Amino acid sequence: MDHFRIRPATKDDTRLLFDWRNDESTRMMSKNKDAVDWSDHLGWLERRLGLAQPNLFIFELDEEPVATFRIDGEDLSYTVAPGRRNQGIAKLMLNEVRSQFGRLRAHVYADNVPSIRVAQNAGMDVVIIDV
Ligand SMILES: CC(C)(COP(=O)(O)OP(=O)(O)OC[C@H]1O[C@@H](n2cnc3c(N)ncnc32)[C@H](O)[C@@H]1OP(=O)(O)O)[C@@H](O)C(=O)NCCC(=O)NCCS
Repeated sequence: MDHFRIRPATKDDTRLLFDWRNDESTRMMSKNKDAVDWSDHLGWLERRLGLAQPNLFIFELDEEPVATFRIDGEDLSYTVAPGRRNQGIAKLMLNEVRSQFGRLRAHVYADNVPSIRVAQNAGMDVVIIDV
């Protein structure tokens, strides 16, 4: 696979994170299925980046942002860019997250087979939520 790196998210990622968050297939797999509006998103990101440890990251392949993940305590959430799914990116990212941050817990809907698979294979704790 190409060269990858994990870097902290910054304000420059505002648009990107907004677009990924509001993508329909992403929303359907999230707890909150509503589209987020721009000002709420800005507020959320500002608060998050203002934390002592924002724990919001961008995963890049050859300097192209292709996925994001965040860590809240023991909980891990992640999204791959809608146009880059099914290319093994989540697999690569979660394996790397596992080695850098240890075993975390992912809450995944029962019908999100790719996510369950990739999180289990990376050695994460997977809590399956009934659809
Ligand atoms: C879930 C998600 C992170 C997976 O990312 P991805 O980069 O497409 O995943 P990968 O390409 O690494 O593949 C994951 C695995 O699922 C498998 N898979 C993909 N589609 C599948 C399907 N429809 N049925 C069964 N397995 C499937 C892949 O073959 C792969 O398994 P393998 O490693 O054994 O080959 C991505 O689809 C996403 O961002 N979805 C929207 C947000 C989301 O669901 N986030 C997770 C919430 S917990």
